[in-house]
Amino acid sequence: MGIKWKNEILYQDLVKWDTRLRYEAPFFNEIIKGIAKPKIRILDVSCGTGDHLVMFAKWGYEGVGIDISEQNITAAEELSKKNKTKDKIKFIVGDMLKLEESLEGEKFDFISCIGNTFSIFSPEKRALILNQMYNLLNIGGKILFQVVNYLPHTSETEWFYKPIILRGSSEEIQYIVRIMEWKEMKEKITMYVLKAQQTSKESDDFILQKKRTEFYVLKSNHFKEFTDKLKGELTIFGNYEKSEFNEEVSKDLVILITKT
Ligand SMILES: C[S@@+](CC[C@H](N)C(=O)[O-])C[C@H]1O[C@@H](n2cnc3c(N)ncnc32)[C@H](O)[C@@H]1O
Repeated sequence: MGIKWKNEILYQDLVKWDTRLRYEAPFFNEIIKGIAKPKIRILDVSCGTGDHLVMFAKWGYEGVGIDISEQNITAAEELSKKNKTKDKIKFIVGDMLKLEESLEGEKFDFISCIGNTFSIFSPEKRALILNQMYNLLNIGGKILFQVVNYLPHTSETEWFYKPIILRGSSEEIQYIVRIMEWKEMKEKITMYVLKAQQTSKESDDFILQKKRTEFYVLKSNHFKEFTDKLKGELTIFGNYEKSEFNEEVSKDLVILITKT
């Protein structure tokens, strides 16, 4: 069996978009409809491959997506073209630490930062990003964060996500394994992703790819501290089904901030 290493795993490989959007859509629909504005503009910060904005555009909303990865923005533009939503969405390659610079003079009614992106930033950087999101938001508008709640796993010394085993359309096998490791007195956690892809259906050769990401373990009080300082109303859920947040069991930490 031959093994070749490639450097990076594409984000698309880790997400089953159909399943994910089917689950998330009712939540987004309700939140956006609840914003009392005649014409709602959406900003998706760290928009990845643009799948959320394309879904919003199909619902009739205009928006802007910003992401630091050129590769993801290229994929987002292709997805938007395929779905005939190009007149409704603008995609920008940019750093979310310099949001106001990239979006000078623009205002939004709904700003999302989801898919655990906020967990990669230090407290200082989170404050910088949140302040800029707040400045770009119209009064009455909403900011949404979704991050993983790592707290239910603090007593585990090692743990991993259920492996993903896929057969692509040409029937090659793909295995994806995600292993988590605690760091710095459980204030941080590292995720190692390993992907093995068969080079062709009958082959014994696999290409291996790896990715390592460090996350801060975010808690609800990290968001409370911020909204206490600004004029904002904070609502917290434990998932997109709007379950009450319980730090010992909730899968996610879903944060909604309304600018008052
Ligand atoms: C886990 S993905 C989430 C993507 C998408 N929001 C979702 O929910 O699927 C994290 C994204 O954050 C982007 N990202 C990381 N650092 C960034 C930065 N400083 N500025 C803008 N985007 C960034 C990555 O390129 C990647 O697309």
